[in-house]
Amino acid sequence: MFIYLNSKLVPSAEAKVSVFDHGFLYGDGIYETMRVYDGVVFLIDEHLKRLRRSASLIGLDIPKNDADIKGAVYDTLMANSFNDAYVRLTVSRGYGDIGLDPDLCKEPTFIVIAEKFKPYPRSYYEAGIRLIIAAVRRNLKQALDPQIKSLNFLNNILAKIEAKRTDANEAVMLNAAGHLAEGTVSNVFFVKDSVLCTPSVECGILDGITRTLVTGLAVKNGIHVWEGEFTPEYLYSASEVFITNSTMEIMPVNSVDAVHFKIGETAKLLLTKYRQEVNAYVREKKGEAPSLWE
Ligand code: PDD
Repeated sequence: MFIYLNSKLVPSAEAKVSVFDHGFLYGDGIYETMRVYDGVVFLIDEHLKRLRRSASLIGLDIPKNDADIKGAVYDTLMANSFNDAYVRLTVSRGYGDIGLDPDLCKEPTFIVIAEKFKPYPRSYYEAGIRLIIAAVRRNLKQALDPQIKSLNFLNNILAKIEAKRTDANEAVMLNAAGHLAEGTVSNVFFVKDSVLCTPSVECGILDGITRTLVTGLAVKNGIHVWEGEFTPEYLYSASEVFITNSTMEIMPVNSVDAVHFKIGETAKLLLTKYRQEVNAYVREKKGEAPSLWE
């Protein structure tokens, strides 16, 4: 397997960063996860825009323009002959002496990792997954804004540990005020009184690219969307629940803590629409992306 490291492709065994990399020492860096369908990186422009927003929020200058980054991503996919894949783009503050000062690092470390996409079990989509509401709260946005997609993921990892303890697939975190925020790697949606509800960005969440697409698709299909502040009781009393992210797309939920849900029509409809959107995007971009299979 080949990894893109800084300015070139290297075999994975040689893809190493220094123990002095501030991404490793302090979680000082950012990342994006994207899904590749049929050789096309879905919504790459939106991901690069969010990568740059994260970079700007931590005062990091990415020493590559978008064309360079896209080139690195597609070079990595081609080197590995992947056409249905997961791609992770990581930019850390880089190598530098010990100390928090970002100026200790002269150049960011830039990494592209691609892996063949491993589909989630079909049962997850057919029977739904289990959620818990975690005891650990989401980072306060005034402390470490969840809109920064940072390498510092301990908050989410602590919630994931709680989920694993009870055999749940995902944990939903509340914000400091006790309102629903988001999952460890996903955004949360639920339907109540025929309205599709999801925590607003003000609740302190990452504004998922899938979330934005899904709310847009809902509106286009005549579904009312309410982005607001919700207590857990709203979620418990919903008629259906699902979560979203770039790799899982739209995944239905069959329980939150001890409360059970049926797989709803809204999640099914939106997943169909989502996949149509993916297909249309892939068709449109196919000409622009270098062909992997010639
Ligand atoms: N995670 N919230 C959090 C905390 C996330 O980490 C993610 C994505 C999302 C959904 O974002 P999007 O729809 O843009 O994928 C929401 C990715 C998949 C990850 O951590 O690998």
